[in-house]
Amino acid sequence: MTLGWAIISTGRHPDTKMAPAINAAADATLIAVASRDAGRAQAFAHKHSATSAYDDIDAMLANPAVDVVYVASPNALHLEHTLKAAAAGKHVLVEKPMALTAEDCQAMIDACANAGVKLGVGFHLRTHPGHQRVRELLASGGLGAVTLTTANWGRGLRGQIKPPPRADLQAWWDDPAMAGAGAFMATGVHCVDLMRYVLGREVTEVTALNDATSDRPLEELLIMSLRFDDGSLGTVMTGRRTPDYQGNDVMVYGSEGRAGVRESIAMVLDGTLDINTSDTEASEPYKNHPLALYTWQVDAFNSAVAGYGEPAASGMDGLRAAQITRAMVESASTGRRVDIP
Ligand SMILES: NC(=O)c1ccc[n+]([C@@H]2O[C@H](COP(=O)([O-])OP(=O)(O)OC[C@H]3O[C@@H](n4cnc5c(N)ncnc54)[C@H](OP(=O)(O)O)[C@@H]3O)[C@@H](O)[C@H]2O)c1
Repeated sequence: MTLGWAIISTGRHPDTKMAPAINAAADATLIAVASRDAGRAQAFAHKHSATSAYDDIDAMLANPAVDVVYVASPNALHLEHTLKAAAAGKHVLVEKPMALTAEDCQAMIDACANAGVKLGVGFHLRTHPGHQRVRELLASGGLGAVTLTTANWGRGLRGQIKPPPRADLQAWWDDPAMAGAGAFMATGVHCVDLMRYVLGREVTEVTALNDATSDRPLEELLIMSLRFDDGSLGTVMTGRRTPDYQGNDVMVYGSEGRAGVRESIAMVLDGTLDINTSDTEASEPYKNHPLALYTWQVDAFNSAVAGYGEPAASGMDGLRAAQITRAMVESASTGRRVDIP
């Protein structure tokens, strides 16, 4: 069954990753795109072979050929756009961070459940085969009792990243009301979601330090310590003040050894599986591919809509990330450890 996909917003992520991934996926056709600007919608539709371009989201949602809506608007708008899409009876794949608060995430979960549509969240790192292999090893007990999990996503200074093509594209990332938090919303949520994914555990405590100031309230660099519900510990470093950072890895240590993937935390399929336990030794590189993680994310979502399995990440995964984000901000600003119920 081929599903018709539509995209809300024409920013960098849908342009460089998700529209090409939808076009590359097995059972997906890009039908439509909506922008605040008709010219941008038409240019995007032309570039990515979508049949329809809209400057009105409601008009796009009225198109019966649209089965799935991919929400790629600024973080603060994910709530409104997901609620609209669910009300129109469309399945929703919403970008991370799912929303700015756990309450908003819950409203999105409820709206999709009430409408009988699937809801997925754009945590693409779950589709990496190395991460899946580590998760399976842990689930089978192959690492013994887990003690420590680490995940880092460090990037270069803002000036070393390609500048945004339009000023408004940077402006929303610098606005606390639109972005919700700083570097954690860009890359940190991926790290904590990946840790939850490979461990199959929930975070119960957070302690964080970040570089936010009263002049610049959104952090650009942060470190955090986590406790999981099995009592094991975790650490995360993320931000954009670490030029040429080496070590964008996820690694789990347990009583029987270690298992993880080196340099796999990225926007491309990449990295090397690294397992060394009493029973297993593996070091396997993954061939770099710019779109594979996102194409598999679309494939998993389509399968879920067709009744096979679930999206790579659920609404509840997005909600958990929102709880951890709030705990990170509170801990960094108060200097205290924050419990997550
Ligand atoms: N999973 C991942 O790997 C990944 C990677 C990057 C980003 N993301 C997520 O994807 C979402 C979009 O990120 P992006 O990098 O594509 O952002 P971006 O390049 O800044 O684009 C955001 C788009 O949102 C639309 N928009 C609507 N209201 C806006 C406003 N008030 N100000 C600015 N833009 C507005 C604009 O499209 P129109 O002008 O067409 O309306 C704009 O192009 C974010 O939630 C981000 O966290 C996920």
